[in-house]
Amino acid sequence: MRAIRFLLALVLGLGLLTWGASVLVHRTTNAWFERDVSLRAQLAMATARETLVSRWSRDKRVALRAALVALTHDERILGAAACAPDLTLLAATPDFPEPFRCEKLGPVVQSAPEAAPDSWSPWESVERLPGGTVHVSAIPMSDGERLLGLLVLVHDMSFVERRDALARRFLLLAFGFLSVAASAVTLVAARLSWRSWSNELRRFLRTGKEPPEFRPLMRDVRELVERIVTERESEGEGGAWTPQRLKLTLNHHLHGERVVIVANREPYVHSHAKDGRVEVLHPASGLVTALEPVMRACSGTWIAHGSGSADRETADRRGHIKVPPGEESYTLRRVWLSREEEQGYYYGFANEGLWPLCHIAHARPVFRSEDFRHYQTVNERFAETVASEVDSDDPIVLVQDYHFALAPRLIRERLPRATVIMFWHIPWPNSELFGICPWSTEILNGMLGASILGFHTQFHCNNFLDSADRLLENRIDREQNAIVQQGRSTLVRPYPISIEWPVGWLATAAPPPECRASVLAELGLAPDALVGVGVDRLDYTKGVEERLLAVERLLDRFPAFRGRFSFVQLAAPSRTVIERYQQLNQAVESLAARINERHGTRDYKPVVLLRRHHEPPTVFRYYRAADVCYVSSLHDGMNLVAKEFVAAREDERGVLVLSQFTGAARELTEALVVNPYDLEDASSALATALTMSADEQRVRMRSMRTFVSEFNVYRWAGRMLVDAARLRRRERLTGRLTDHLGAAVESIG
Ligand code: G6P
Repeated sequence: MRAIRFLLALVLGLGLLTWGASVLVHRTTNAWFERDVSLRAQLAMATARETLVSRWSRDKRVALRAALVALTHDERILGAAACAPDLTLLAATPDFPEPFRCEKLGPVVQSAPEAAPDSWSPWESVERLPGGTVHVSAIPMSDGERLLGLLVLVHDMSFVERRDALARRFLLLAFGFLSVAASAVTLVAARLSWRSWSNELRRFLRTGKEPPEFRPLMRDVRELVERIVTERESEGEGGAWTPQRLKLTLNHHLHGERVVIVANREPYVHSHAKDGRVEVLHPASGLVTALEPVMRACSGTWIAHGSGSADRETADRRGHIKVPPGEESYTLRRVWLSREEEQGYYYGFANEGLWPLCHIAHARPVFRSEDFRHYQTVNERFAETVASEVDSDDPIVLVQDYHFALAPRLIRERLPRATVIMFWHIPWPNSELFGICPWSTEILNGMLGASILGFHTQFHCNNFLDSADRLLENRIDREQNAIVQQGRSTLVRPYPISIEWPVGWLATAAPPPECRASVLAELGLAPDALVGVGVDRLDYTKGVEERLLAVERLLDRFPAFRGRFSFVQLAAPSRTVIERYQQLNQAVESLAARINERHGTRDYKPVVLLRRHHEPPTVFRYYRAADVCYVSSLHDGMNLVAKEFVAAREDERGVLVLSQFTGAARELTEALVVNPYDLEDASSALATALTMSADEQRVRMRSMRTFVSEFNVYRWAGRMLVDAARLRRRERLTGRLTDHLGAAVESIG
């Protein structure tokens, strides 16, 4: 069928070509023949000129006609006539055609130039008569001084038509032959190459030896199969991702292995309150927000730094405590660090070095060798703890974030058969930037101990692959997006993180109108006040200063919002030991004071800065009360505040204004996406948000809610675990094959 279609197209193409060529041939040959006939007419006239001139008078009519008849002995001249200057006929051959009689030549004589008659050029025309085409020329005759009249010659042109028809026929035949020959050659060539291609394919399928020309094809096929298998495996029976489904996935693919998480921040911090009681705090951390529900679903052990003032007294002798309090489903293993270790590893290398290094937020990274030494020691301590916590030699270990870049390799050294997944929660810089870290190769080598390395976006994966390519001696497998070191490969994959759905805290939360009423009352705002909210740790990457400046710009540009719009910033103090964070605290405080000074009154405060830790129920109450939530990060791997705000708005109201520099902006496209540095852009977006119709809010919010509910954190964890399971199967198979080979070699020996 395809061959027939090809032949039809070929024949049609050649047909068109033939038609074009025949038109061209016709035009060209006609022009040639006309010129030829014209030359012949002039030649005939030149030969007979003397005779004609001598007989050119009415008295010598008979002799003149005889001369004209003599002219027509040329078989192509159909007739000749001699016309007087007044266009009366002097003489004509017997069969001179009627339509060209002398009196019809009036226009020729009228258009004749004033110059001497000898210099007139002949008048010529091709005419179609019923019997065929003729060429008519009227040639001026003179005796050198005066015009004697016109000699009219009529040439037969039918031979031109005959020749033209012959030429066309020949052309058609030639093109016809050509098209048949071309089709035959093409078909034979295609058949031969198809046969050799399918022979190659058969040979490849039989022997498994991949010929080079199949490589791109095989790569595409493999990628497609893998994608389908992963999707199928992670989708399971389809439907939504829930804690139960994640648990089933774990049972099905990983035979219910217990998961071990290594993360610096613990999900539950026990602290001494002012009144001396021990309270449990939920730290403000995107990592905790995402992973805690996963851990509740999977059970296992979370290994973290025990940083709370009451952590030791609430844990057992080995640092174990069952959590969540009251619904114990997994174990928290606390690791104790000295003040120096915490200073060097956490505040120093992790938060003064790697954190600013990985974020484009214009804070200079500080690298101190004693900090890095502490970082190494603490990573080793955690790797040791992993080894002491697992109950098999091939556990699944999820290493989290930039606090533990060295841990994957250290864990692998202790547990060579472990499946180590490392997830990097913050951006990964480009290779040039990353290269400024004095321990860049140690960091990369440490991370490459993992079997899978996850980032939020493909962009960060690419940056990582480039860094490894540039700074390490290893092989980058661009087909698989993997890095191969001494035969072991680490897959580098994007896994955009998310939140639990539905959010557990919302089960007991008041409905949005109640939340709004309580927040307005708490802040002393009028019932028709417009409320904006920001929720962050006080960190320079979050763009809190830019956010407040946008609020100020809004009030400058749109006076209607003055007195009516208040922006509430819930700001959790964070890493306050570090000088840069102290500066930020002061800057934000004085900025809020300045705006309140400029635009506030005795009863109105445009900026409400709540600088303390807020527990999740309060945070969700504010999300529900707000007309707008502004997430203005200058650089953020994902940002889960944006997703939490969407989850909180069961009423499908409220507008999200979101920085384009967050990973979330790639997913929550119905937010008003802004450049937080551009205060005009950001303040316009705030104004748009505050005046957006309820219908538009609903449409946007509904779409974002659908997205977050489907792409929730159970799916995120499920996809990683399924990938890990596939890798384990592959590694076990390779292990078995290696064992068989070893045995075979030994038996030969
Ligand atoms: C970011 C990091 C997390 C960290 C969180 C809070 O989200 O990726 O690893 O837990 O900030 O910071 P903190 O230093 O208080 O744990």
